[in-house]
Formats: sequence, C-alpha cells, structure tokens
Amino acid sequence: MSISIKSEREIGLMREAGKILAQVHDELEQFVRPGISTKDIDKKGEEIIRSFGCIPSFLNYNGYPASICVSINDEVVHGIPAKKRILQEGDIVSLDAGVIYNGYHSDAARTHAVGEISSEAKQLLDVTKNSFFEGIKYAKEGNHLYDISKAIQNYAESFGYGVVRKLVGHGIGKNLHEEPQVPNFKMPGRGTKLLAGMTLAIEPMINIGTHDVKFLSDKWTAVTADGSLSAHYENTIVITKGEPEILSLTR
Ligand code: MF3
Ligand code: CO
Repeated sequence: MSISIKSEREIGLMREAGKILAQVHDELEQFVRPGISTKDIDKKGEEIIRSFGCIPSFLNYNGYPASICVSINDEVVHGIPAKKRILQEGDIVSLDAGVIYNGYHSDAARTHAVGEISSEAKQLLDVTKNSFFEGIKYAKEGNHLYDISKAIQNYAESFGYGVVRKLVGHGIGKNLHEEPQVPNFKMPGRGTKLLAGMTLAIEPMINIGTHDVKFLSDKWTAVTADGSLSAHYENTIVITKGEPEILSLTR
C-alpha cells in the first residue's frame, strides 16, 4: 500500500466533510456541562452528524459501539459512552468524532473544560491544542513527516508533559485510517516526504505525567498509566505547496 494523493474533487468532498465536522464539534462544545452523561454526548453527537446527512464513521468501526469517543480526565482516547458516566464540575473531557460525507472521511477531536477547571488542567488543554499548531508549521510539501512529529513532541515536552506513543495519527480519505501513520514523537529517520494532496489526521495526545498508557478491560479505553490527566486535539488537514489547509476547523 502507498499514500494516496487526493484529487481536487476529493479534497472538495473532504472540505465539506471537515466543515460539517467542525460544526458538530462547535455544537457539542455548547452541550458540554456538569450533570450530563457521556451517553448523552454520544446521542447528541450522532443526532447532529445525521442532521447534516452524514454517517458517524466510528459507529461499529472495528466493533466500536458509539458515534463519539468520550474520554474523561485520565482517559486518553476511545472512552465508551455510558449512561452512568456523569460529567462533574472540574473534569476535562475529550470528544473525538468522525463523519463520512459522500464517501469521504473527516476526523477531529477537542478537549473541553467541564465548568471551572484547575490551572494545571487549563494549561494541559492549551498546550495540547498549541502542539498541533506547532506541528503543522512543518506540514508542507517538501518537508518530511517526522518534522511534524518532532515539533509536536519538543513543544509538549518543554512543559514537562508526556507525549503518548502507543497511539498515533494517520492518513485519511475514503477510509478513516490510511497510510501513513503520523506519530507525535520523534522516530528514527525522517518519515515520508510530504506532497501536496496528502490528507492527514494529526492528533496529539498529551499527558501531564509520563507518556505511557494502558487499556481498560473494555478493550477500547486508553488511560494514562500513572493516572495523570490527558488531553487530545485533532484535525484533518491537507498538505499543499504552501500553508496546510485545516479542513475540520471553522474558527
Ligand atoms: N480518531 C480516532 C482514531 O483515529 C478514531 C476512533 S476509531 C473508533 O483512532 F473505533 F474508536 F471509533
Ligand atoms: Co484519528
């Protein structure tokens, strides 16, 4: 297999998918508050996705049982929504969602504060989001993939944080997960050369403590090994000869 270069037509469809997904996240951000369950978020998210005529791509993907991955505090990613999991004031909650629009995918994640949060948690959210933007400074034709990875890691680690290694970003298009894998940490070599028309889901997962994660018995939920807080921020982008275009962002 190799990395697919998308045509203008395909990028147009992914642009639509991304625009819709950005709106899904904007609406879900308004919905997040203390007292709602992670299942409420999943239901609301699925409803919004379908209201745009899209398909929630995570639902039944490799058996994943929901449309939105909802991960609280030390949960890193892939939390499974449940009626009994209630958001509490002071929590941080990451929402990861994917949509399919006319056969093309977009994938994005945000981490939100639930009510008032600690300054430590606030800094984690800011650094995680900023690390994505540090990374995509290098997302340009002619650079190498791991230039992005290295920039994300260097930035996050300068705050003493751990960058998750067991889970990585990915190419995206007709499939949710395509080549190449997009690590958020330094790898030997330079990685593939970036070319205009490559579409990537770049998704730093950052822990206040060490980088290590473990998986719960539900086989999905990744949690930090040391119990520290974790945040996730992801967008689908397209590589160009100049600045990358962030497809899954409206503002
Ligand atoms: N954004 C997630 C990822 O790239 C997608 C979750 S897949 C699911 O890993 F199966 F959990 F839905
Ligand atoms: Co992803």
